[in-house]
Amino acid sequence: MNIQWYPGHMTKARRMMQENIKLVDVVVELVDARVPVSSRNPEMAQITNNKPRFVVLNKIDLADPKRTAEWIQKFKEESLPSVCVNARTGEGLPAVLTAAREACKDKIARDKRRGMMNRPIRAMIVGIPNVGKSTFINKLVGRATAKTGNKPGVTKGKQWIKIKKDIELLDTPGILWPKFEDRTVGLRLAFIGSIREEILDAETLALELVRFFKNDYRNDFLQKYPIEDFEGKEPHDILREMAKMRNLLASHGEPDVHRLSKMFLEEFRNGKMGSFTLE
Ligand code: G4P
Repeated sequence: MNIQWYPGHMTKARRMMQENIKLVDVVVELVDARVPVSSRNPEMAQITNNKPRFVVLNKIDLADPKRTAEWIQKFKEESLPSVCVNARTGEGLPAVLTAAREACKDKIARDKRRGMMNRPIRAMIVGIPNVGKSTFINKLVGRATAKTGNKPGVTKGKQWIKIKKDIELLDTPGILWPKFEDRTVGLRLAFIGSIREEILDAETLALELVRFFKNDYRNDFLQKYPIEDFEGKEPHDILREMAKMRNLLASHGEPDVHRLSKMFLEEFRNGKMGSFTLE
């Protein structure tokens, strides 16, 4: 699922995107609602050039609803329409179709003037790995399509999938690289599980996640792990306390921080800690 992004891969991904973009009327940029900035590709604006586009904040079930609303407002201020969805359940999908029609209204009017009444809107989905592109496409299409490979530069015959009478979707999403050279971005993507743990070990990540909870969402953390003097304790000691609370002990009765770290990250990623937005 994860890609090692080398400059060659990035060039290929960019080239493919640019070729495909020529074929569509609107680009649907899928991002993770928990990290609406870190899950965006830094060159999105240049790559799409002047094509109409809008943002879809996916995985809203895992994000803080109040902050999701703030992000929608923020995108609006930047003249970038956005909608929020849960690609797993299909919540919010009708708004995506409305946004696609809205983004293409000039084209629709132009077609009408030229007497071309029934030309469907053509759309493509783009996003960095793991934001939910395949899930989103499958839900939009209403049946399981072939799982789209996450390798940039893998070409296959282009297929248009009819979603509604007036909307067609390119079956292959555009896969883009994240801003991984920025440490904060890297950390956030690792928290949500978009970057593999081999890159950052579980314990380091868990320590950073505790730091995140100390700064933000403190009460949500304490509800799950009611640690005394949470404020005054160092993150490493907090992990030890958490391990004790979960009865995760190594052979000599020492808290098993490694196992705890993995468990804690998993709980965070699958929403068992609650719904949080990291930026
Ligand atoms: P990609 O094509 O962009 O790489 O992403 P993909 O659809 O493979 O989705 C990545 C993971 O995110 C999948 O979970 C998928 O189920 C999950 N996902 C997608 N949309 C949503 C959403 O709106 N909410 C939640 N909670 N999860 C979402 P996985 O564990 O990797 O696979 P699986 O358990 O679904 O098989």
